[in-house]
Amino acid sequence: MKEIALYSYFDKLSIIQFLRTYAIIPMMFVAFEGIDGSGKSTITRLVAEMLRKDGYKVFTTHEPTNDKVASEDLVKYRNVESYLKLFFSFTEDRFSHQLEIREHLDKGEIVLCDRYLLSSYAYQGEVIQKIFENRNEAIQWMIDVSRIITVKPELNFLLDIDPVIALERISERKRITSFEDLGYLRSVRDFYTSLSSRETILIDASRSTKEVTEDVYKILRSRITQ
Ligand code: ADP
Ligand code: TYD
Repeated sequence: MKEIALYSYFDKLSIIQFLRTYAIIPMMFVAFEGIDGSGKSTITRLVAEMLRKDGYKVFTTHEPTNDKVASEDLVKYRNVESYLKLFFSFTEDRFSHQLEIREHLDKGEIVLCDRYLLSSYAYQGEVIQKIFENRNEAIQWMIDVSRIITVKPELNFLLDIDPVIALERISERKRITSFEDLGYLRSVRDFYTSLSSRETILIDASRSTKEVTEDVYKILRSRITQ
């Protein structure tokens, strides 16, 4: 049969690249990361709208999948035991969430997720690193525990911004959580930047919504048709 012949000729990745090139199935998983107020949910929504206008099927999603995961009692005292509990809770939440993401990817959709693995590394790692000699050891431990997360983004956008501006943006929110503290967000931002790797694109999120959205959109479009 034609399909079988195709499979024996290409490996799985080449097939995905082939289908992407001809915009048949984009199948791409992208995460948006950054401190609270950096603009993740705004940019996720606007970029999704632009891609949908281009005819792509886009599924947007968010972590944590429910409010109970980030329990205020655990967040407010920045001690190692509480942050280990938080790290495991967010990871457990992600363990189930990845199945839903997989279903959408299998349908050839683009999945845009507001927060994923790097959020746990940056927000919980900031306190968990106290157990270890240095940050790299802490990161390695978190990566090892996160091996149960097999559905991973091929790209992370890190929306980088000064926490003072980010907090100004969210100052009108009714509920300000214990995560949203200037000193803490400064350390989280620093942790995020130390995580930058080949799969992470740093975006200057202090610019206007229009500039940030267009920047991200252009990068995604070029990836899809690469
Ligand atoms: P996050 O999801 O990262 O917490 P949001 O997308 O909810 O951030 O944005 C926080 C607030 O800042 C919202 O009121 C949003 O309208 C506003 N905002 C988002 N991006 C920008 C931007 N580039 N410039 C100015 N305000 C912004
Ligand atoms: P979220 O609702 O995304 O807040 P915001 O829209 O303000 O960015 O996330 C709630 C909080 O959960 C946020 O302060 C960051 C925190 N968080 C972690 O600490 N670790 C994680 O793994 C995730 C997914 C979120």
